[in-house]
Amino acid sequence: MGSVHRVFHDSAPRPPERLRFLGRETEITISSADDPVKPDKTSEGHSYLWKYRAAFSVLRTCFRARLHKHQSLCYIRIPKVGAGCSERASLALIGRVTPVRGSSLQMTKKVPTILLRVGMYVTQLDRPWIETPFLFRRFEIKTQQQIAQIQEYCHHVFIDTERGIDIDIADVPASDGGSLPENIPPNSPSQTSANGQSTVSFEEEIQQALEVRSKTKQVVEHMMEDARIGNSIDSAEAREAVEGIMDSITRNREALICLTQLKNRDEYTSIHSMNVSILCIAFARHLGLKEEQIRAIGVGALLHDLGKMRVPMEILNKPGRLTPEEFEIMKGHVTLGADFLKNTPGISPRSFRVLLEHHERYKGGGYPKGLHEDQISLVGQLAAIVDVYDAITSDRVYHNHLHPHDAIKRMYEWSEKDFNRALLEKFIRCVGIYPMGSLVEINGTDIGFILSSNATSALKPDVLLVMDTQKNRHAKPSKISLTETDGSRKKDKWTITKVLDAVEEGIQIDSFL
Ligand SMILES: [Fe+2]
Repeated sequence: MGSVHRVFHDSAPRPPERLRFLGRETEITISSADDPVKPDKTSEGHSYLWKYRAAFSVLRTCFRARLHKHQSLCYIRIPKVGAGCSERASLALIGRVTPVRGSSLQMTKKVPTILLRVGMYVTQLDRPWIETPFLFRRFEIKTQQQIAQIQEYCHHVFIDTERGIDIDIADVPASDGGSLPENIPPNSPSQTSANGQSTVSFEEEIQQALEVRSKTKQVVEHMMEDARIGNSIDSAEAREAVEGIMDSITRNREALICLTQLKNRDEYTSIHSMNVSILCIAFARHLGLKEEQIRAIGVGALLHDLGKMRVPMEILNKPGRLTPEEFEIMKGHVTLGADFLKNTPGISPRSFRVLLEHHERYKGGGYPKGLHEDQISLVGQLAAIVDVYDAITSDRVYHNHLHPHDAIKRMYEWSEKDFNRALLEKFIRCVGIYPMGSLVEINGTDIGFILSSNATSALKPDVLLVMDTQKNRHAKPSKISLTETDGSRKKDKWTITKVLDAVEEGIQIDSFL
């Protein structure tokens, strides 16, 4: 059986769990001792010890709440069964353990639909099946398209982690999230301009959006240079750039949002500031905030990291992780930025709150003040979400980007501590489950960019098909809608078959516009 060095690090002993094992109900005890344990073979039963790599995945399925990644060894006792089993045979047997109905290890788990993955087995919805288009009352998720359809109808579902894959996080939050701050309008519009409609098409807007992006980038770079050498900035330039963004988003929000997926590692800080402003404006409009509020949020977002220009360049551009001391200095960029701008006319208090609170975290783990929940303004909460989203979807010297689709999932996992979950959910609705500008494979044959959330079916976006999967460019990009059905059979004509990484694939949207 091998020598034993360590078992679980839990402090309290656990009662045995009732399970079905070898076709009959029995009890399994997971050791909670922190002392070395010798495998035994007594009249009481057998104890088995398996090394992490061999048994972890099987045991994690059975005892997921009890196992943690840092544990390299685990120890279980199986009384009065399995006598004479070799280690290998026992490992095979434990794979067949099933929970007894009512056991705390029963494999049904409530999962927010934002965290669904292909391979999960859905057993129950948060609404009657009859209100949904699903033919089967239990099914394994086979495609991303199915996930999108479930997300369209449900906020959460129940999955059977024995019949399908488990959720990939340690704890699924029990609640459905906090409430929105009071100053978010209850019936906020879900779409773009003041009346909720784009006034021009994506194709008509995209060239103007590219110009807005180019001008805004210049303004940000100019302000950063001023800040770096200690000159005061002209806030009128920032306000003008924000007007340009707001106008573009009013005409057609998708165009400019798609362009936030154009990244450049070497110009991270300026592009990030611009992207945060674009996404904050789009998000604030999605929430139905007033024009004046949106304008202030946009200006604050454009300036939110200006204090980084006052941080020593060797720390700002350090390749690799910062030391704790260097990180403390880096954290100072918030107050450095506020100090630098405090005498600059034309910057509203609301804009300052964006800057001051964009690193505060919902449960108090942020900086500089460690504010929590309602102590953080709506604009601060909003900016924090957007700032993290753009940062983790960008390449940095110390980390590689996440695909936008994965980024929103990851942020949802973090939202217990870091974000107002209700607000995060609205952000996800705003940018889309498949965020605008991200790359996907369609029907296994074509590659395209997500263009928009369809007005009638937010989770069936429009897609700009640009090439086939062999990377042969189409003569002309063509726009399709995932809401289209295949005539007589009423089947979806288009399906997202894979989420692709635009950077890894070397496919950038601007080369097709
Ligand atoms: Fe920052």
